[in-house]
Amino acid sequence: MSEHRTAIRCARITKTFGSGEAVVHALRGIDLEVRRGEMMALVGPSGCGKTSLISIMAGLLQRDEGELEVMGTDPGALSGHERTKWRGANVGFIFQQFNLIPQVSILENAAVPLLLRNVPRREAHERAAALLREVGLAGRENSRPTKLSGGQQQRVAIARALVNEPRILVCDEPTSALDGATGQKVMHLIRDITRRDDRVVILVTHDERIYHFADRIAHLDDGRVTHVSTPAEALAESAARMGEAAAARG
Ligand SMILES: Nc1ncnc2c1ncn2[C@@H]1O[C@H](COP(=O)(O)OP(=O)(O)O)[C@@H](O)[C@H]1O
Ligand SMILES: [Mg+2]
Repeated sequence: MSEHRTAIRCARITKTFGSGEAVVHALRGIDLEVRRGEMMALVGPSGCGKTSLISIMAGLLQRDEGELEVMGTDPGALSGHERTKWRGANVGFIFQQFNLIPQVSILENAAVPLLLRNVPRREAHERAAALLREVGLAGRENSRPTKLSGGQQQRVAIARALVNEPRILVCDEPTSALDGATGQKVMHLIRDITRRDDRVVILVTHDERIYHFADRIAHLDDGRVTHVSTPAEALAESAARMGEAAAARG
């Protein structure tokens, strides 16, 4: 790939679900570029297309139309098997629900992406242990997830998402299940650990308290990106909307 700074390029991407009277236009022509090393937040009302868009970027969902380039690859052009391999090597996922396996240790949980890629068990465990150290869970390797707090469980999910050294990290509402202070700590960790290695982070969130971690904020509405702003601009817009709403209530 050329030396340009674009990591992800979406042009005119559309996606519909269903057909006939039940058709839903989830994405109506998405244009968006995400730069290398950038944390880009996607914000907008429920149903505006955020999850559809990150799923397409991550090679989990096929688009209908438009162009997509993710680190020089169009995941949509790969066969199902190739796409699964590509995703395993290039994309890490962090969700609101931590999605940990309750019956096994957090070491085993963090090693899952490596074991899925047939990395030998011993090496997988070594790498998982190193990541658990990085997220502040040294000494807890043999604990079951249920013995940990929500913040600690999300740290395990971060370790699992990064154990493959993916170039892209996709986070869908990563702080929604956490209290405010824990959410801040988790975001600090995600930012520090990804920035160091120039990873791209796509962050879907409703939580204005974490906007400032993002480099830029893409605002979605009804399947389109209406504008891209700085976090400060996004917070000012939201404060202005709250003011208008309060004024309307009298
Ligand atoms: N698998 C699906 N089948 C049918 N409709 C879907 C599916 N996934 C999403 N949608 C619809 O597409 C629209 C966008 O959804 P989504 O991308 O999940 O938005 P967001 O994440 O912003 O809430 C919504 O109207 C949603 O109901
Ligand atoms: Mg969603």
